[in-house]
Amino acid sequence: MADAACRYRAGLQHWHPLLRSTELGRQPIRRQLCGEAIVLFRTASGQPVALQEVCPHRRMSLAAGQVRGEQLVCAYHGWRFDAAGQVSCPLMPAAELQQPAFQLREAHGLLWLRQPQPGETVTPALPHWACRDLEPAGVTFHTVPAPLELTLDNFTETEHTTTIHQVFGFRSPAEVELRLELEPAATKVWNSGPQKPFPRLFDAFIDIRPRDRFANDWVTTFEPPLTVYEQIWRRGDQLRRFRLRVVMFFLPISDTSTQLTTLLYMPRVLPGPLHRWFAAPIARWITAYELNLDVKALAQLADLNPQLSAKTLGPFDKVLLENRRRIQALYLKH
Ligand code: FES
Ligand SMILES: [Fe+2]
Repeated sequence: MADAACRYRAGLQHWHPLLRSTELGRQPIRRQLCGEAIVLFRTASGQPVALQEVCPHRRMSLAAGQVRGEQLVCAYHGWRFDAAGQVSCPLMPAAELQQPAFQLREAHGLLWLRQPQPGETVTPALPHWACRDLEPAGVTFHTVPAPLELTLDNFTETEHTTTIHQVFGFRSPAEVELRLELEPAATKVWNSGPQKPFPRLFDAFIDIRPRDRFANDWVTTFEPPLTVYEQIWRRGDQLRRFRLRVVMFFLPISDTSTQLTTLLYMPRVLPGPLHRWFAAPIARWITAYELNLDVKALAQLADLNPQLSAKTLGPFDKVLLENRRRIQALYLKH
């Protein structure tokens, strides 16, 4: 259901990685972003298209329509929509009707979507992050039943990794060295401390022991909200071979729901195709498992109000207020 009053509406101007490229075929599918209901499909020639979901005639969902050639045909009365959103009604051939259309790009195996802005002459570039030095280990998607700010809060503090997580986390928040650096368009956080004990099953695969030192450092930027985590482990002075780069996009679906689109990178730990068949899927599985623990925790929040004023904040929460300011200034700007 579209929500024109969604408070993240202005976020539509930024590129968001909404779904896997391979998920989209000729069968129309619906998605929601920043409160906007969107229908997506590929035309017969394979062009991806995203339009406002509701038919302007009598409000049928265009996701119930069918692709014929380069057009989508509404299931109710057969009005037709092309890739640019131009509408043709068989009974009103002279009518000039336009359905709002979104811009789409395909990159990193994902479909990215944004809403073009009135008077815009230059399309912004897609977000960029370092990824050539490591191997891609896949993408995961999670839906969090919490607003953007509260979801980002969870993923930009490590205090909860001791209590909520099984594998990637610190033994005790009291032992974590924490450092914060603020930039006008970014917040940067460094965390370092003893790795928490975790199931011995993982020792063999990633060769990380409880006595190792875990560092979880990240940079958050806001156009769109994106956090890039560098997770490394040290034994004494020695850097362990296994490390992770987690690239997490925060997509507001509605005022109370957020999608996480997470790209994972790691070093090649097994030779040849064994990496793709075993190492990458195991790393992806562990990461998805840990992210599910975050989702479960966020689903238990008793108060979904994103305001920080009624909350008693601790030392790990300093960045929360800074993130809020940048969401307001950079992501929600008109
Ligand atoms: S509702 Fe779509 S053509 Fe009538
Ligand atoms: Fe977490």
